[in-house]
Amino acid sequence: MTAEYFVVRGQVEKGDQRGRELGFPTANIALRDQDGQIGDGVWAGWAERADGTRIAAAVSVGRRPTYYGADGYRLVEAHLLDFAGDLYGETLTVWLGHHLREQEAYPSSEALIVALTKDIADAAAWAADNPAAALPNPGDAGDGVVRRVGA
Ligand SMILES: Cc1cc2nc3c(=O)[nH]c(=O)nc-3n(C[C@H](O)[C@H](O)[C@H](O)COP(=O)(O)O)c2cc1C
Repeated sequence: MTAEYFVVRGQVEKGDQRGRELGFPTANIALRDQDGQIGDGVWAGWAERADGTRIAAAVSVGRRPTYYGADGYRLVEAHLLDFAGDLYGETLTVWLGHHLREQEAYPSSEALIVALTKDIADAAAWAADNPAAALPNPGDAGDGVVRRVGA
């Protein structure tokens, strides 16, 4: 049985660089569909690099309400687990496999860091049970377009 995933592919853009300051760098991908086939939230998933390497990820879909209120634009931000390196300009494919929680507007960066630490532990546990080898074919919908794949 293949699990169901949302998949989005896109070029990694420069974010605000805040992720590095927080200690959780993210690969940011623009979402072309701002209305949202997927709702805002935090997901466990996998990311595939241009060279085919697959890395477990904790993924945020939303507007970064801690910093931008409701005015931010929606984007996909993938924090790749146990990864250090430059992804800017690279095309990344991201599978969202398991919804962990909703987006929250935290009172401080410190509170966001506590949540991110738990998200990463949760994503690692999910990835251990849902290996990359079992991921469904992502198909090709164009950059920034969200697709539902698997069944
Ligand atoms: C797993 C994960 C969960 C996140 N959850 C939230 C959240 O609940 N609320 C929020 O405002 N931002 C959340 N973010 C987004 C961070 O605010 C964002 O990554 C940070 O501000 C860095 O932004 P930058 O990449 O533009 O520098 C999350 C990011 C990740 C990777």
